[in-house]
Amino acid sequence: MRKPVIAGNWKMHMTCSQAKEFMDSFLPLLSMNTDDRHIVIAPPFTAISTLSSLLQDSPVELSSQNVHWEEKGAFTAEVSPEMLLEHQVKFAIVGHSEPRKYFSESDEQINRRAVSAQKNGLIPIVCVGETDEQREKGEAERVIRRQVEQGLEGISTSHLVVAYEPIWAIGTGKTCESEEANRICSLIREWVGSDDLIIQYGGSVKPANIDELMRMSDIDGVLVGGASLEPQSFARIANFQA
Ligand code: 13P
Repeated sequence: MRKPVIAGNWKMHMTCSQAKEFMDSFLPLLSMNTDDRHIVIAPPFTAISTLSSLLQDSPVELSSQNVHWEEKGAFTAEVSPEMLLEHQVKFAIVGHSEPRKYFSESDEQINRRAVSAQKNGLIPIVCVGETDEQREKGEAERVIRRQVEQGLEGISTSHLVVAYEPIWAIGTGKTCESEEANRICSLIREWVGSDDLIIQYGGSVKPANIDELMRMSDIDGVLVGGASLEPQSFARIANFQA
């Protein structure tokens, strides 16, 4: 039984006081059964400590938006697994298309981040997905397969989440058709060779499409950007009915 993971990626949004305000509105709106799904927020690093205290007795778990592979050292701007674990962070997003694009993160670096996260007891959320141009050229499957194979090298498939996020659907309002998202997720499952692997879809997920996405056979959760910044809309997504 794969337990769905509904995660909000706040990207570079929310100060500590805004995060607190969000939770004051969001937590009372949750009506789902906390045993049958994970609800996760990935705030910016600066809000992790505040949220960790605030969420102690709530069903909401924390993710980081990145993690480094070394335990400590001269790595300006990076964060180690231990620094996250101190704040009860459970998941770590790695390989999101934004650091891939803006900071030229390679599959090898992403793999090192994921391996280190897992070794230290964090659950990596490894993001993969093709650009518009790659899809137009018929290269989507080849690109995603390479990202999956290189990104997951040496990784155990338990304590792992893979997020399929087609780049052309991120922040554009253009959701991938649920059947097509499901087809890619099932291919990823086949390539990885695990029935237990949790695979999320991400890209313009919103209250209007969450129930349909969660009815798909191979979609085990969602990674939500814009719609996770507003308490009502993220609560509707968290309370999905499949
Ligand atoms: P949007 O939901 O804003 O399209 O962002 C998706 C995303 O990048 C989540 O990581």
